[in-house]
Amino acid sequence: MAKRIITTELIEEDKKIESSLRPQLLDDYIGQTKVKDNLKIYIEAAKQRKESLDHVLFFGPPGLGKTTLAGIIANEMGVNIKITSGPAIEKPGEMAAILNNLQEGDVLFLDEIHRLNRQVEEFLYPAMEDFAIDIVIGKGATAKSIRLDLPKFTLVGATTRAGMLTPPLRDRFGVVSRLEFYTIDELKEIIIRSASVFQVEIDEDGAEELARRSRGTPRLANRLLKRVRDFAQVKYDGKITKKVAEFALDLLEVDKLGLDHIDREILLTMIDKFGGGPVGIEAVATTIGEDVGTVEEVYEPYLVQNGLILRTPRGRVASDLAYRHMGREMQQNNN
Ligand code: ADE
Repeated sequence: MAKRIITTELIEEDKKIESSLRPQLLDDYIGQTKVKDNLKIYIEAAKQRKESLDHVLFFGPPGLGKTTLAGIIANEMGVNIKITSGPAIEKPGEMAAILNNLQEGDVLFLDEIHRLNRQVEEFLYPAMEDFAIDIVIGKGATAKSIRLDLPKFTLVGATTRAGMLTPPLRDRFGVVSRLEFYTIDELKEIIIRSASVFQVEIDEDGAEELARRSRGTPRLANRLLKRVRDFAQVKYDGKITKKVAEFALDLLEVDKLGLDHIDREILLTMIDKFGGGPVGIEAVATTIGEDVGTVEEVYEPYLVQNGLILRTPRGRVASDLAYRHMGREMQQNNN
């Protein structure tokens, strides 16, 4: 699969940017209003009762702020955060060591929690429910299980695939929150905030242009902002205006709707080679020389969510919007 600047997965260049941009308080966190309002109450209530916060599960597409929210929770609760991920913990013993090192009230952030192996997951159940773990000592007939008490901690789990969590794990979270894509206005606000952290000048229209092309995702907005800043500095006077943003993003091949060359190739294939559809996803994938699974899971969802591709029982159809966006005239009845 080709490397895409518009991927919302965490890539190497994001790591430094994101750690400097992460808001530390709920009040500085833009968007996800419902999630934020709920968290505010739960945090306040737990603090008043001097208890640890209930376990929290965040789910939703990558790049929307799950890790950031975990950090904010720890900060607002005044506790430490230990960050790890499902695939990083291979054995129950490793999980035991992590849990045993937590202090009262601490946050344990488990990213990609759907990728925990079964044994580790089952080991986690009593830890979440009773703040205790069962450790087996010895082997065979003389083996003994002893119960070890843990400090009361808060597990913050994150997943892009809520459907892949087992019900017993899911049921052990007191708070389950779904993160949504951000609106243009919210992204614009995030971009203006990030620009001030980067100490780069940006005007409203420049921020809006970047926001429109950021696929509803702060991670992408911040990555594009950093790239556009370089263009502004080298090719212009340093300030990001609409013109500068357009120039830079056009060069980066991120178009007005945030589509890259592969997205556009998919749409043009459907329109020019298959009369706009209905066409099977396999035919489209073969024509552009991509794997069907990749087209279906990586490329297509954004195009479907934004009404560029319609999924019908007879196959995929390119929408009116797709024709207009690609500058093609619609022939007869396509859909
Ligand atoms: N940076 C990335 N996501 C953010 C958000 N939701 N609010 C503020 N800054 C952010």
